[in-house]
Amino acid sequence: MARIQIEGGVPLEGSVQISGAKNAVLPILMASLLSKQPCRLKNVPHLKDVTTTIELLAQMGAVVGLADQFTIELVADSVSHQEAPYELVKTMRASILVLGPLVARFGRAKVSLPGGCAIGARPVDQHLKGLEALGASVRVESGYIQATADRLKGAKIVLDTATVTGTENLMMAAVLAEGETLIENAAQEPEVVDLANCLISMGAEISGAGSNCIRIQGQAELAGYDYSVLADRIEAGTFLVAAAMTGGHVQARGAVPDTLDSVLQKLEQSGADISTGEHWIELNMHGRRPKAVDVSTAPFPGFPTDMQAQFTALNAIADGTGIVRENVFENRFMHVLELQRLGADMRLEGNTVIIRGVPKLTGAPLMATDLRASASLVLAGLVASDSTIIDRVYHIDRGYENIEEKLGQLGARIKRLPAG
Ligand code: EPU
Repeated sequence: MARIQIEGGVPLEGSVQISGAKNAVLPILMASLLSKQPCRLKNVPHLKDVTTTIELLAQMGAVVGLADQFTIELVADSVSHQEAPYELVKTMRASILVLGPLVARFGRAKVSLPGGCAIGARPVDQHLKGLEALGASVRVESGYIQATADRLKGAKIVLDTATVTGTENLMMAAVLAEGETLIENAAQEPEVVDLANCLISMGAEISGAGSNCIRIQGQAELAGYDYSVLADRIEAGTFLVAAAMTGGHVQARGAVPDTLDSVLQKLEQSGADISTGEHWIELNMHGRRPKAVDVSTAPFPGFPTDMQAQFTALNAIADGTGIVRENVFENRFMHVLELQRLGADMRLEGNTVIIRGVPKLTGAPLMATDLRASASLVLAGLVASDSTIIDRVYHIDRGYENIEEKLGQLGARIKRLPAG
């Protein structure tokens, strides 16, 4: 398996282009199932999860092609096979996002039940409850969710928890249902809003996306889309933390500041100077060591769980003691044991990790465990003395486009080693 090698100690300097958001691209690609007409998605990042999604849609009978390096064209007029098999779902939980569109347009779907996951149990009960409220009959058999319906009917759905992909799945189901749907306690993440904007461009009637109550008037059919996806706030946040940890000065081009308020606030608390424009964010640490910050994860607009591991790494080398609390997933601290191998002083207590910053980490071989945990190991490697080698980097490739190239452009000494 490929590995990444980092020689730490270089302050990052320069400007980096932020890619399209993984967690917006995936649902928007799935939304192509809602229409017979051609769809075109621009600003698509080169990620393993995008490849998996294309494979999934193609297996169903959608015709998928590349218009250029960052543009995907899809036509789902001859989908013959409304199924997401275990082989694909086990590599990408977001495959569950075909459920809503398939039931809404074809009246049937068979989707493997995602199992447990490295960061927590991650049930999908809210997706299923919502579909049932819309009139689908849903059963779980032999590891598969089987859902059938004539035409879905609009309903009021109150989610028990503000699930991101659950909200997206139900929004995609409701746009083709008969009548009005209200999703209460909806997720408010920018990726939900991006999906809603794309659906609106297809002719859907949706209001309230970005608030906790989304109202949808179902349509008999939808047109295709020609849409450009939002920039990835988590990729941007990760590069900004890298700049802060190394005492550097980095501009994230394309990043949308409004999607990162809680993260930018924490970076300022840690001593960074932040400046922003409509489509860029710049962080200057002026060579200073970051100060420790407390972080407590929450649904948007709270501090994102997808940035928790990166701030845990920042606290590892910060001045002072930081407390990081994970409230969204129950087991999202796999990086802690690896960071300790570099000399981090961290104590894990339930859903909280208490971090006493040390002036220096020392490089070591490390194992990537999940996507964001892996990113935190890369960040730690950027400040560790000597060499850090991270194994199983396929986790990083699921969500970061060319991370070693982009960090290399900012001056990091980082390279990918062939499998060994
Ligand atoms: N939950 C339930 N029942 C459900 C659905 C969720 O109890 O039916 C719980 C989960 O177990 C969790 C909480 O609700 O405790 C929130 O989970 P959510 O459903 O919002 O997460 P998700 O939709 O599965 C998306 C992102 C994740 C991101 C989370 C939280 C995608 C494809 N994935 O997952 O991204 O961490 O929202 O913001 O959008 C990543 O990119 O690394 C990643 C894991």
